[in-house]
Amino acid sequence: MTEILKFKIGNLEMQGIVGAMGVGNTGPNFINSLYEAGKKEGVPNFLGTLSAVGGGILKGYFRDALRDSGEERWRIHNLIANSEGAKKEEWEGVMKELLSELYIEADNKSLREDLQAIRGPKALNLMFATQNYDELARTAVDEGVDLIVTGAGPALRLPKIISADSDVLLGAIVNGGRTAEKYCKSWGKYGHSPDVIIGEGPKAGGHDAYTLEQLADPDFVEKGLEKIFREIVQATKGYSTIRGESIPILLAGGAFYGGDMKKILSWEEDGIKPLGLQMSTRWLCASDASDEHKQACIDADERSIIKSPVGYPGSAIENEFIRKVREGERHPTGCAYHCLRTCNPDEAPYCIAKALINTRNGNVDEGVLFAGYNVKHCSNENFRRNGRFTNSEEVSRDLAREYRVAAGSS
Ligand SMILES: Cc1cc2nc3c(=O)[nH]c(=O)nc-3n(C[C@H](O)[C@H](O)[C@H](O)COP(=O)(O)O)c2cc1C
Repeated sequence: MTEILKFKIGNLEMQGIVGAMGVGNTGPNFINSLYEAGKKEGVPNFLGTLSAVGGGILKGYFRDALRDSGEERWRIHNLIANSEGAKKEEWEGVMKELLSELYIEADNKSLREDLQAIRGPKALNLMFATQNYDELARTAVDEGVDLIVTGAGPALRLPKIISADSDVLLGAIVNGGRTAEKYCKSWGKYGHSPDVIIGEGPKAGGHDAYTLEQLADPDFVEKGLEKIFREIVQATKGYSTIRGESIPILLAGGAFYGGDMKKILSWEEDGIKPLGLQMSTRWLCASDASDEHKQACIDADERSIIKSPVGYPGSAIENEFIRKVREGERHPTGCAYHCLRTCNPDEAPYCIAKALINTRNGNVDEGVLFAGYNVKHCSNENFRRNGRFTNSEEVSRDLAREYRVAAGSS
């Protein structure tokens, strides 16, 4: 019987990765459900990636800390957070304070809690665009994280942040050969080459590191993943991990069915094949996402490309919120968090933190609903079972079955 191939990143063995889905959609509940499913006979073992972004805001730790820290800060925070409008002079003065200790502490507290709650291997996604990237990375190491996967900006000094001789496995999400080589060179200088490179193509959900023009080009979207796979193989050929192995290449963006997995895993460049896949959209039904977000995936016929204050385009489901933003109707009146290095609240079309947290909390009319190109395949058939959303074990079994059928060995 043909099974989805097992592969290793360092000492971690798996048959695929479920990519992080921020804010809060790949939390400990979901990750543990994948881990438990993967221990069962005949169920593929997918490693879930924790999303650390915005945890302190999502769980209310930042708000609580601010409320306890003084009336004036609390008043201004509320004005901004509730979009009631705050004068620039008012919020500018507190911006630094908002960002400082309290924000960092709140996010760290949430991350510690999440990592402690994960029962199997601990894999974490960090977005370089976040203001508290360094602190989150150090906290994760402190909490015994096994693998850090970094994306959303060039985190070329990550080994330095966590200390180069740490045995934490490091992975980078890249959009092509050039970025892959940059990571090999920069991390190599710190004596810690990438333990895995994840090539993320233009069909991925969430933020896509491509231009709006590229994402509007059907030919680029269709062939982009294979193109970057070949580039990455060429760019990383001369490098190896600290264990002397060639650098494992995973691919992300566009695998929805087991048949897609089979096809992508058969690509070959210079005798090298992708080691495995990182997938997300297929897993949204089983994730910690809100039921409203899951239902919106079933109802959607296609994705839309939106602009995001993170600095990259985003792949999301069209809704009223996005339409209003496009028409220029929505503007933050100030910044309640200052969570991103890349966001200028004066120019940002909306607050991405607030929009993603709204979605996570089920308020999808006021939120951005991230989903990949394959959201068109999310249907009652694969997203629902027995009157509820499909769970991790069921998705894993479905993928394994589809893979076997594609391999002609059902
Ligand atoms: C709802 C959603 C949220 C995402 N959030 C993040 C994130 O916070 N960080 C990140 O690096 N990638 C994020 N991604 C990208 C995924 O981790 C993954 O690489 C990609 O979606 C794979 O493509 P697929 O959805 O076609 O399987 C997100 C994707 C989705 C669908």
